[in-house]
Amino acid sequence: MNGKFTRSLISACAGFLAIAFSASAQTRPAANAPASVTARAVPQVGADNYVGNDRCRRCHKSEFVEFGKTVHATLPEHKNSAVGCEMCHGAGKAHADAQEAAHGDDAKSAAANKLIFSFKGSTKVNSERCLQCHQTSNKQAKFDHSSHALNGVSCLECHSIHLVEASDNPKGEAVQTATAKFFSVPSLPEENRWLTSSLLRKNQPELCYQCHANVKAAFALPTHHRVPEGAMKCTDCHSPHGTGNRHELQQVASETCVACHTEKRGPFVFEHAATRVEGCTACHTPHGSSNKMLLARREERMLCLQCHVASPTTTKTMPHNVQSFQAQGACSRCHSVIHGSNFNKDFLN
Ligand code: HEC
Ligand code: HEC
Ligand code: HEC
Ligand code: HEC
Ligand code: HEC
Ligand code: HEC
Ligand code: HEC
Ligand code: HEC
Ligand code: HEC
Ligand code: HEC
Repeated sequence: MNGKFTRSLISACAGFLAIAFSASAQTRPAANAPASVTARAVPQVGADNYVGNDRCRRCHKSEFVEFGKTVHATLPEHKNSAVGCEMCHGAGKAHADAQEAAHGDDAKSAAANKLIFSFKGSTKVNSERCLQCHQTSNKQAKFDHSSHALNGVSCLECHSIHLVEASDNPKGEAVQTATAKFFSVPSLPEENRWLTSSLLRKNQPELCYQCHANVKAAFALPTHHRVPEGAMKCTDCHSPHGTGNRHELQQVASETCVACHTEKRGPFVFEHAATRVEGCTACHTPHGSSNKMLLARREERMLCLQCHVASPTTTKTMPHNVQSFQAQGACSRCHSVIHGSNFNKDFLN
């Protein structure tokens, strides 16, 4: 009891200092993306039912302290709008009063828990609470129809609003500034990471690998986009919030790829219809492959012959017939500009 109180007191001070420091030294991390939400106010339902953050802080210091460091704690107050804890948890008077009256009685305390919204319902209900405000953001607006939402993955699988575990993380004590040591404020790498990376529970790709083990395996193959090395992120190509495109790709089909591989965009005088019709993934695997150049087949020739069916009778699709060189070697020996050409209809140069 006593120990817990002391710890709470220290963490409350820690929170105060962290806020003070961040205000003066501007260490509050910039958001990865420009403000996407026009802070839509959540209206209060019966102003008398709200008690304000101070009341919650008395019993929930860790949550209060961690929450105080996040962008959610800085939202402006509108007339009759709920701010702070109660903008997500809803009006808290009934809960606070009942917990106070419970005096630690387990049964009464459990009953008091039921008087506040605590994100323990369905994933849909949980996400809806966040979307009350975030629906207005162009990035989260499609969430309801995303594969994640449709498969029961809510905002909370990936984001944490008050990462209390981070403040308890003993690993954090390894790195300490002199000032932090003096005030016995631990400098917490896990907490800093959380605050600088959109309140994510883990960074990419580990966050995604937890559930997408097959994708992790693909990125472990010899040829891969350098996601495991940290040079690229899953979100360069996908949106976890949903886009409406196939596989939640950031842009329609090959547009996602040519955002980086601009030289493959064209327009070409002679374009390879394969790209236009099926996209880059007609020939490449996006994540990883045991083949060179992320090709979908080990033998490039076999890749081409998937569509350009060899036929000894017709010379339309294959001028050089089955008996000749098509039986061996890469087709790109001659068809060297396979992504499209401005000079040659057969992509020879
Ligand atoms: C009362 C409105 C409101 C509610 C409810 C709300 N948010 Fe926010 N949230 C905001 C605003 C406003 C911002 C700041 C917008 C910006 O800078 O892009 C924000 C920012 C964020 C950020 C970015 C943080 C950062 O450091 O860049 C995340 C992640 C986030 N919210 C997740 C959530 C989740 C998850 C929930 C539900 C548990 C939620 N929000 C509920 C209004 C709200
Ligand atoms: C008098 C002390 C007290 C006050 C004031 C108080 N709480 Fe609580 N709260 C508790 C206790 C005790 C629990 C139960 C903790 C447990 O079960 O581990 C709890 C549980 C919760 C839970 C989790 C409920 C669940 O289903 O597990 C949430 C969310 C919560 N409080 C939010 C708030 C908010 C927001 C406020 C301010 C509006 C607040 N509390 C004010 C004592 C209080
Ligand atoms: C932006 C939305 C949001 C705001 C604002 C918010 N919380 Fe929470 N809170 C959550 C979510 C979501 C959870 C569910 C647990 C989780 O995902 O980490 C939660 C869980 C809790 C719990 C239960 C923790 C547990 O272990 O079960 C308590 C207590 C709590 N919050 C208190 C507070 C207090 C106190 C404040 C204000 C200082 C506050 N919350 C502000 C979203 C919010
Ligand atoms: C599957 C994991 C996942 C889910 C589910 C998820 N997010 Fe995110 N969110 C991320 C990742 C990853 C980023 C960082 C994007 C980046 O760095 O490009 C992010 C960034 C954000 C941001 C800040 C930048 C932006 O894109 O606006 C906000 C706000 C946000 N998420 C809110 C939400 C809300 C609200 C929900 C639920 C409706 C939600 N997220 C569900 C993974 C997720
Ligand atoms: C270079 C762009 C790119 C990157 C980076 C990328 N993906 Fe993909 N991903 C794609 C494309 C394109 C597809 C569609 C493949 C197809 O059409 O066969 C896809 C398909 C998927 C699928 C569905 C098919 C499957 O393999 O299960 C999942 C899940 C997925 N990606 C998750 C991830 C995760 C998780 C990461 C990060 C670890 C990631 N992706 C990184 C481009 C990318
Ligand atoms: C809590 C588990 C979980 C986490 C964490 C998670 N996902 Fe998913 N994801 C799923 C489920 C479940 C589906 C739907 C089933 C499927 O297609 O595999 C899905 C679907 C997808 C799809 C669509 C696949 C398709 O075939 O259309 C993409 C893309 C994707 N996730 C990317 C990501 C990325 C990127 C991250 C990390 C930022 C991530 N996921 C984190 C569980 C998760
Ligand atoms: C965010 C930028 C980015 C996006 C988006 C992107 N790539 Fe890449 N890609 C790279 C970089 C950088 C390299 C080369 C260096 C490396 O990482 O090994 C590369 C390499 C490649 C290679 C050659 C691999 C090798 O072994 O030389 C192929 C093929 C490729 N990408 C195809 C694609 C396809 C297909 C897509 C769309 C699904 C795509 N890329 C999307 C950045 C990107
Ligand atoms: C018809 C099959 C096919 C399609 C479709 C295709 N590629 Fe390729 N790509 C190849 C082949 C074959 C190679 C290897 C060429 C070589 O060995 O010189 C290659 C090589 C590459 C390389 C590495 C070498 C270089 O030229 O930079 C990149 C990057 C690449 N492709 C990106 C893309 C992108 C982006 C798209 C979609 C716009 C795409 N490819 C569509 C067949 C294809
Ligand atoms: C996904 C199917 C597909 C794959 C794989 C594919 N192609 Fe094509 N290719 C096409 C289509 C469709 C056309 C347009 C044919 C037409 O207009 O009659 C085309 C056109 C061509 C042409 C231009 C001649 C013409 O008939 O217009 C050449 C040369 C060619 N492909 C070579 C290759 C080579 C070499 C590969 C292997 C690296 C390859 N293709 C892989 C579908 C594919
Ligand atoms: C030794 C060089 C060489 C190799 C290797 C080669 N081609 Fe060709 N290919 C050509 C030439 C030259 C033409 C143009 C013939 C013409 O215009 O009459 C051509 C034309 C084509 C055409 C266009 C046919 C049409 O009707 O317009 C296709 C399709 C094609 N090749 C596919 C392939 C495929 C698939 C491979 C690999 C299995 C391959 N080529 C390997 C030299 C080659």
